[in-house]
Amino acid sequence: MERVGIGIIGTGKISSAYIEASKHFPILEIAAVADLNPAVAQAKADEYGLRATTLDAIFTDPAVDIILNLTIPKAHLEVGLRALGAGKHVYSEKPLGISFTEGQQLVAAARSNNLRLGCAPDTFLGGSHQTARALVDQGVLGTPVGGTAYFMCPGHERWHPNPAFYYEVGGGPMLDMGPYYITDLVNLLGPVARVAGATATPVSTRTITAKERAGEVIPVHVPTHVSGTLIFQNGAVVQITMSFDVAGHRHVPLELYGTNATLLVPDPNHFGGQVELLRKGGEWENVETSLPYGEGTNYRSIGLADMAHALRSNRPHRASGELALHVLEMMEAFGTSMETGRHVEMTTSVERPAPISTSLAEGRLA
Ligand SMILES: NC(=O)c1ccc[n+]([C@@H]2O[C@H](COP(=O)([O-])OP(=O)(O)OC[C@H]3O[C@@H](n4cnc5c(N)ncnc54)[C@H](O)[C@@H]3O)[C@@H](O)[C@H]2O)c1
Repeated sequence: MERVGIGIIGTGKISSAYIEASKHFPILEIAAVADLNPAVAQAKADEYGLRATTLDAIFTDPAVDIILNLTIPKAHLEVGLRALGAGKHVYSEKPLGISFTEGQQLVAAARSNNLRLGCAPDTFLGGSHQTARALVDQGVLGTPVGGTAYFMCPGHERWHPNPAFYYEVGGGPMLDMGPYYITDLVNLLGPVARVAGATATPVSTRTITAKERAGEVIPVHVPTHVSGTLIFQNGAVVQITMSFDVAGHRHVPLELYGTNATLLVPDPNHFGGQVELLRKGGEWENVETSLPYGEGTNYRSIGLADMAHALRSNRPHRASGELALHVLEMMEAFGTSMETGRHVEMTTSVERPAPISTSLAEGRLA
């Protein structure tokens, strides 16, 4: 199959994960890289034997079919719209935009230009999450009842060299980590009907402890503890908390409850991990994960590869702009619910993405 040319914009921390993982997907050809800071792009290009280009040139580069937008969240809209305007497909890191309105603009621009829009996360395509999906699809849970989703930590300023964006508008634990959990929940349970939420901001500054900028104090402009309830269209009620204010905890990342069973789904920020099942009246069992794209490798770029294959074979891609927009509407709704004291009805909905076809050799997606 003809390879698809990828132009990376934003060669910061996460770009290495994409460049390395792309080696698992022969359809991806990283044609060029660019960054607001040309020296950063050149250094990444030198490290991986790639071609650095200017920000202006990459949008019109004939070798680039898809712009891979790995910039910080508040630049996703500007970079994404410019790429779509230049006739390039776009695959973006999460969140799709820093507000639902921004996400809507990107989805609308892709539609009106007849171009593809994809968005991270793609971890729900990992072997463990697809195993959980297969169990749900087989009806093992019975009628879905509810569940829990927890990501809680003391904050990313412990390890990220430039953590200020996590505390600016467009950052915060919900927009940063919520996409992994909520996207996986939609993959498992389908779309959400309404959201009830509450938020807290216990401190107004954070002190960086990552060695690159240790001791620097950064302001906090967003809630850093976000909690609430997702009410799915199928009736399931899932409690969720995303926080940068918790020293430690003992919740598992994702639990799903059904009338017949409880399912433990591993960390949706990773592709593998142990799936566990408790059938009513039985014992906890470890579920074997024989599906591809699981343990041992960071496959971050599988969503991009799926979109590239989808382009070539003219089928829908799984990590879609519509899915990311539905998730973004939910994530924004926690704050809206806090402000209004009401549940927030979702205006968007989405079909669950098709399960990964396992009939092909690893690296090929249908
Ligand atoms: N760091 C992680 O572990 C991680 C994990 C998953 C997803 N992400 C997501 O990846 C994205 C990037 O995160 P990161 O950690 O790599 O950030 P980073 O700050 O390390 O890198 C971002 C890069 O984008 C460039 N940039 C910013 N604005 C730009 C613009 N307008 N045009 C061109 N380049 C621009 C910056 O110069 C920088 O090099 C974010 O959306 C984040 O949510 C990060």
